[in-house]
Amino acid sequence: NKESSSSRGALIVLEGLDRCGKTSQSGRLYKYLDEQGHSVESWRFPDRNTGVGQMISSYLANKSQLDDHAIHLLFSANRWEKRSLMEEKLKSGTTLIVDRYSYSGVAFSSAKGLDIEWCKAPEIGLLAPDLVVYLDISPEKAAERGGYGDERYEQLEFQKKVAGSYLSLRDSSWKVIDATLLIEDVEKKLREVVLDCMMTCHKGKPMSQLWP
Ligand code: TMP
Repeated sequence: NKESSSSRGALIVLEGLDRCGKTSQSGRLYKYLDEQGHSVESWRFPDRNTGVGQMISSYLANKSQLDDHAIHLLFSANRWEKRSLMEEKLKSGTTLIVDRYSYSGVAFSSAKGLDIEWCKAPEIGLLAPDLVVYLDISPEKAAERGGYGDERYEQLEFQKKVAGSYLSLRDSSWKVIDATLLIEDVEKKLREVVLDCMMTCHKGKPMSQLWP
């Protein structure tokens, strides 16, 4: 095709246990890319600003109780309600840095004992990330960092199960970064893999859907 199609943004997902540093790193990465003049936005799931997001937030704060399957589907619905906007942004050339995505959905729910294939099903058809970065930290180290709040899943025993689920979800395309390195070193490694991925998307890598 001779016509130069306008280049698209990249869908970058950061995953990891609670307290692995995802949120700080996505903030730093956003700032860097923005300052470099890229069109970029910082997103997160759950997105607590929507109606569904408020139900999730209340569940996480232990202010409401829900069946494990029901909350799983709400987390998924929360991604579905942002899907079209996500596609629009990517097509218009904006790179999205997303703090948690479908992998959190599957890892946390399957850690409760739900069947993994059942957990994956409602995610089918969501946009597939161009890059998944896993910020790797042991559950014990993460717990030592303190700041585990009062939220439902922030408990060592449960995080150990989540770590196991993540391990079975990981594939060779994931970039794993040691999250116990100095914050600046994690940042540097993250920039490298992200810039590389953005270049691939810029050159015309097609968008795809879960689960590829
Ligand atoms: P946050 O601390 O990143 O806002 O995420 C809130 C909690 O929700 C965190 O413990 C991970 C969990 N979670 C799920 O269980 N399923 C999901 O689909 C997502 C996005 C998060």
